[in-house]
Amino acid sequence: MDSHALQDDTLDITLRPQRLSDYIGQTALKANLEVFIGAAKHRQETLDHVLLYGPPGLGKTTLAHIIAHEMGGNIKTVTGPSLERTGDLAAILTSLEPGDVLFIDEIHRLPSVVEEVLYGAMEDFHLSVLINREGTSRTLNLDLPPFTLIGATTRAGDLSSPLRARFGITEKFDFYAQEDIEKIILRTAKVLQTPIETHAVTSLALRSRGTPRIANRLYRRIRDFAHYQKAEAISNAITEEGLTALKVDALGLDDVDVRYLLGLIDRFKGGPVGLEALASAIGEEIMNLEDVYEPYLLQIGLINRTPRGRVATEKAYKHLKRSYQGQLF
Ligand code: ADE
Repeated sequence: MDSHALQDDTLDITLRPQRLSDYIGQTALKANLEVFIGAAKHRQETLDHVLLYGPPGLGKTTLAHIIAHEMGGNIKTVTGPSLERTGDLAAILTSLEPGDVLFIDEIHRLPSVVEEVLYGAMEDFHLSVLINREGTSRTLNLDLPPFTLIGATTRAGDLSSPLRARFGITEKFDFYAQEDIEKIILRTAKVLQTPIETHAVTSLALRSRGTPRIANRLYRRIRDFAHYQKAEAISNAITEEGLTALKVDALGLDDVDVRYLLGLIDRFKGGPVGLEALASAIGEEIMNLEDVYEPYLLQIGLINRTPRGRVATEKAYKHLKRSYQGQLF
């Protein structure tokens, strides 16, 4: 692993709040979980299985760790695609202790044979797997300790209905409000011990697309600009200089967002155009555009989804300094 990735990961862990009460934003979701966690603890039961869905970077993993911590259990983390065979799932399930959390990220990418084994494990903590060895096959039946499965996905719609139905709790993540992103940046500044001026917090938050992961990443990069100049605090001037150097525009759009919008406007006259045609025109994967880029462009009103395809709004034309003729359809 390269040392930068390692460093970013370790930083992420220290930046993560440990308790629900320290978790900023997502108010409705947090209030619900407080009830469900409190009630499960009162009954001395494990928490029902939880499905968390929404765009990347909004804190699904962070919340899974908080849930495990609040319930007093350990957390084991895997990703859907890493569980290639039923044996991979059996190995992790049998290693759980009572009250542990199994966190499956990208649960929509779980192979279907593995998913089917998961049903029994979720429903009555029973594991039943077929083992093929040297031409003979037998079924392994095991009782599992009570555990909580937390699944995270950017695509709730891609989950099969039998899997979705086995989650007792389903919560959706929304983009964060500007003031919540500001609070998260201030918290990060405290943890990482480099103070930041109030206006600089506002500037960073405005460019973070309502996404804590982006806010924290921007904060760290701007902190690099400050430390490189041997400054003890992050000033407005350093922030503006850093944001310009990082080519983050006024709405926080990155290179892919800009190519998406310019592709839509310049090559398809602002749409409507099907996502497949647009994706191939700009050389990006459809799923990446749909899961990672479009949710925020929709949220801030730069694009619309219509039955005939994607459309750029007047706001998108203005932001990219293109003249808007109105849509002729
Ligand atoms: N870091 C990432 N997401 C967070 C949140 N919602 N609250 C506090 N810190 C965070």
